Amino acid sequence: MTAVDARPRTTTESRFPRAFRWGTATAAYQIEGAAAEDGRTPSIWDTFSRAPGRVRNGDTGDIAADHYHRMHEDVALLKGLGVTDYRFSVSWPRVQPTGRGPAVQRGLDFYRRLVDALLAAGIRPVVTLYHWDLPQELEDAGGWPQRGTAGRFAEYATIVGEALGDRVTTWTTLNEPWCAAFLGYASGVHAPGRTDPVAALRAAHHFNLAHGLAVRALRDVLPRKSEISLTLNLHAVRPLRETAADLDAVRRIDALGNRIFLDPVFHGRLPEDLIEDTASLTDWSFVHDGDLATASEPIDSLGINYYSPTVVTAVSPATAASGLPDPDADPDADPGPGPGPDATDVPSPWPGTEERVRFVPAPGPRTAMDWPVDADGLYELLTRLRDELPRTPLMVTENGAAYDDYADPSGAVHDPERVAYLRAHLAAVHRAIAAGTRVRGYFLWSLLDNFEWAYGYSKRFGIVHVDFATQRRTVKDSARWYAAVIGRGGLA
Ligand code: FCB
Repeated sequence: MTAVDARPRTTTESRFPRAFRWGTATAAYQIEGAAAEDGRTPSIWDTFSRAPGRVRNGDTGDIAADHYHRMHEDVALLKGLGVTDYRFSVSWPRVQPTGRGPAVQRGLDFYRRLVDALLAAGIRPVVTLYHWDLPQELEDAGGWPQRGTAGRFAEYATIVGEALGDRVTTWTTLNEPWCAAFLGYASGVHAPGRTDPVAALRAAHHFNLAHGLAVRALRDVLPRKSEISLTLNLHAVRPLRETAADLDAVRRIDALGNRIFLDPVFHGRLPEDLIEDTASLTDWSFVHDGDLATASEPIDSLGINYYSPTVVTAVSPATAASGLPDPDADPDADPGPGPGPDATDVPSPWPGTEERVRFVPAPGPRTAMDWPVDADGLYELLTRLRDELPRTPLMVTENGAAYDDYADPSGAVHDPERVAYLRAHLAAVHRAIAAGTRVRGYFLWSLLDNFEWAYGYSKRFGIVHVDFATQRRTVKDSARWYAAVIGRGGLA
């Protein structure tokens, strides 16, 4: 008699392409700790997290998930998951303290050991060069609003490319330059905490320039087969109503949130409407001849980080100019993606749109970040890019959710909401692939609970629980679920 096989089967409908890259993602400052070891100097996040009131509970990344000392344990976790790829970032002040001059070999050695351990475990390393930890000395010299920072970044890219290029084949220059520019320099809820809208626009341009310069620098030192990418947190922007005014609000946020990077990097131009929308702030004379050609140096793929959609509606300029309250205003209006957890009176991270656009909470269930759960936004973004950049392969380089997880007395961590979130978003990726989108991989954010920027350790995004008092790791149900998905090559 044959036993009934009760294991869920993956039907052709839910199977991902055979070469699909299944990964998880982390970032240096969020997990490494060892903030003052082996020659590392402070980054802007070390400084920012020490400033009173900037990060919830006064948390810092000094110890974080202590990954610097537990790297082998964490690679073993990755191996247990069965991932094909692992995305991590290199800490700039660890390998080039102060952001200038020669590399520190002890810092680079950590990443050499990590790459070796990953390769020995059969996992492909995916390196991000910049996940927000600018050396403090470069901020003191002007930071990203200062043009010279772009050149410094290219030098740093050369250092890391030379050290790891023989074993790392997939490279990402920048993670989410929108957040780094607009949360860092306009709303000030991220490091370095400046609130100058023009500085943010300058930073955005210098990120595009730094990206292009780094692509050139990497091409000079990497083997030919290497893939170079950029990761953007593109906004899936929707109008509250299908009116001309609301569609214009969408256009403005799309320009400042998406096309400010997509147009320079893929088309070598700045959006005309963005220049007009921001004309009262700047004439963009910080964009020099040749910069946009540099920014559009060809790349091999585009990474997309997606968590939730953005809904906007128009504010009438007459209402705004009158100083009277907007009659349509929703008292619970969403401040829009970005503002930190406890800040009040935070300036807008959307320079030039404040009097025109209002952010509206999207409906539906929410994560512990209060971010709406809506997987259709991911499908919308991916299929938009299929149409606009048909030749560019895509990777979802971050997607995931925070929930208030805890280990129960038996040591288990049950996180069914995260499983539901991940399932819905992977299904959206699958639908996008079936609709002809070239999505090559998916990186779940995050492997470990970690330092969630201005929220400190209060938000848990990991599929592995970390007890920050003991650094004990506990695999959550979602990790087992993800391992099963990877093992089957698709959703059940
Ligand atoms: C993204 C960041 C990542 C993480 C997630 C939740 O914006 O790139 O470091 O904090 O959000």
